[in-house]
Amino acid sequence: MSEEELKKPEQIVHYPDPSFQESALIHDYNELYHEFEKDPDAFWRRIASDLLWFKQWDNIKVWNHPYAQWFTGADLNITYNCLERHVNNDRRNKVAIFWAGENGKERILTYYQLYKDVMRLGNALKSLGVEKGDRVCIYLPGIPELVVSMLACARIGAVHTVVFAGYGSKALNERITGAGAKIVITADASVRRGGSIPLKPVVEEALIHAPTVERVIILRTQEPKVSLLDEFELDYEDLISQADRYCEPAHVDSEDPLFILYTSGTTGPPKGIVHAAGGYMVGAYYTTKYVLTLRENDVYWCTADPGWITGHTYGIYGPLLVGGTIFLSEYTPDYPDPGIWWKLIEDYGITIFYTAPTAIRMFMRIGEEWPNKYDLSTLRLLGSVGEPLNPEAFEWFYKYIGKEKCPILDTWWQTETGMHMVTTMVGLPMKPGYAGKPIPGVVATVVDDDGDPVPTGATGFLAIKEPWPSMMKTVYQNDERYQQYWNFGKYGYYSTNDLAVMDEDGYIMLLGRSDDIIIVAGHNVGTAEIESALVSHSAVAEAAAIGKPDPLKGNIIKAFVILRNGIVPTPKLIHDLRYHVRIILGPISVPAELDFVDNLPKTRSGKIMRRVLRAKEMGMDPGDVSTLDD
Ligand code: WTA
Repeated sequence: MSEEELKKPEQIVHYPDPSFQESALIHDYNELYHEFEKDPDAFWRRIASDLLWFKQWDNIKVWNHPYAQWFTGADLNITYNCLERHVNNDRRNKVAIFWAGENGKERILTYYQLYKDVMRLGNALKSLGVEKGDRVCIYLPGIPELVVSMLACARIGAVHTVVFAGYGSKALNERITGAGAKIVITADASVRRGGSIPLKPVVEEALIHAPTVERVIILRTQEPKVSLLDEFELDYEDLISQADRYCEPAHVDSEDPLFILYTSGTTGPPKGIVHAAGGYMVGAYYTTKYVLTLRENDVYWCTADPGWITGHTYGIYGPLLVGGTIFLSEYTPDYPDPGIWWKLIEDYGITIFYTAPTAIRMFMRIGEEWPNKYDLSTLRLLGSVGEPLNPEAFEWFYKYIGKEKCPILDTWWQTETGMHMVTTMVGLPMKPGYAGKPIPGVVATVVDDDGDPVPTGATGFLAIKEPWPSMMKTVYQNDERYQQYWNFGKYGYYSTNDLAVMDEDGYIMLLGRSDDIIIVAGHNVGTAEIESALVSHSAVAEAAAIGKPDPLKGNIIKAFVILRNGIVPTPKLIHDLRYHVRIILGPISVPAELDFVDNLPKTRSGKIMRRVLRAKEMGMDPGDVSTLDD
């Protein structure tokens, strides 16, 4: 045995229980992959044929690198598939959404009720002049109205852009103006950990320079009711109650945009990732059915806020497309106590639980006493997304939550991919530390800078070779940026910007980002955004931000700040700067650590070398510094 092999810890493998596969009506991974490889278009045709289309496609796909069109010429409406397809059949009275609010509040919406609410809001939006293709910004907490608002936009062919309700005013403004939203749908406040967080003031601030916005729709949840600005601010409930009942589903072209979702960019402002109606629908449907295996009697909980891509695809669209029952909650994992999520699983009989490594690590740290207090025997499948699920967290999740009988899906994908790409599709053995294999429909590889495969076990870049239905359509009003994605190496692969290793069985392990995006507790934060927020403070001359490994959050943000001449560094100033970032961007982007420095390592052309800062911070060799200015 070589020294290298001796050093390697033994790879643990968990084999799924064969009974699981039978009960979940799963197809064999290899068989399904083979079906895809043999004839990709026939594969996608079979999947897409489960759904209802107003007009059939001419072609499954037309691929002109870097542009793919999916289901060309077809007309559809995703809400027709999420609602009528069930309401007109056996699922009219089935629970679409169980919602649990803090303090034991509960709301239940059947498919029929959801259908009615969506149509009324769709009509209300139309009455405000919203037309097909218009953008509507939704800034709401994870309550049923968020689901209704997204579907109402889709119903009339408007393009929603959901902004996570934890974002600050500048981040919100950038997304509203970036998308050119005509309407903003929001609420007076959100509820969190026994308190309420006002949202309206954030929206007011964000609207100061947002000329495209014509109206704001406000859901008023609190007493006394906040006052509204005549004509400009409209009450959500009033609008709904005055709206007509039936709203025709708009016939949208398969290639028309369904939504824009912003994600942090390496440089400059966030990127508006555009997803098209037809391809996205098929990708969301396929993976929810075949990867998450969501079935008739499941109660499924995706803990991601609907404001992220995970919430879009696997919190809302995917589960509604397959006619599943969604559980949605505003409870944070540790309030009123760290048993609350396990209590909810027991109370609602959750069967599929999809969450994030950072939450799992938090629970692991608190200890298994908490989950052990509750009956988790309804669970049959567990999932993870957002960052690598480290082997220790995998084992804990497997043992204490899944009781060694639930398979765990470590799902790798991105806002840009729209759907799962790499995981251990049920039936495949699980190797903690590895996400798994490309799912049928996805052709992924680990390559060097040129795009040539690296040897087994060597680090390279994860790249995707072929288009897939739910791939992003473009970057909103920045097609050049889109083209860069499909420009990796000499073969023009889709670049994921993730580092990876592939083992001898084709399993892929993710090693983190290769660019300047920091994944903090599973959320993407761009160094550029943090730096520009810091520099917008009057005391700051220059700033740099890096990600620093953290056992709980994966990474934390560390900032280095050069103060303006004459400004004295004080602990109070650190506090002020962090608060400043919080107000502008929201709590996720706040640097956990902040150092004042006299200079920053830069290239001769003036680019900050974050790599050098990172290496120094971690006591490692900074590598090649030949481009470093003295
Ligand atoms: C990271 C979230 C390792 C990765 C769906 C990716 C992961 C970025 C995993 C996308 C995983 C997501 N293992 N890393 N299972 N899932 N990532 O756009 O760096 O919010 O590129 O989409 O998160 O984040 P996004």
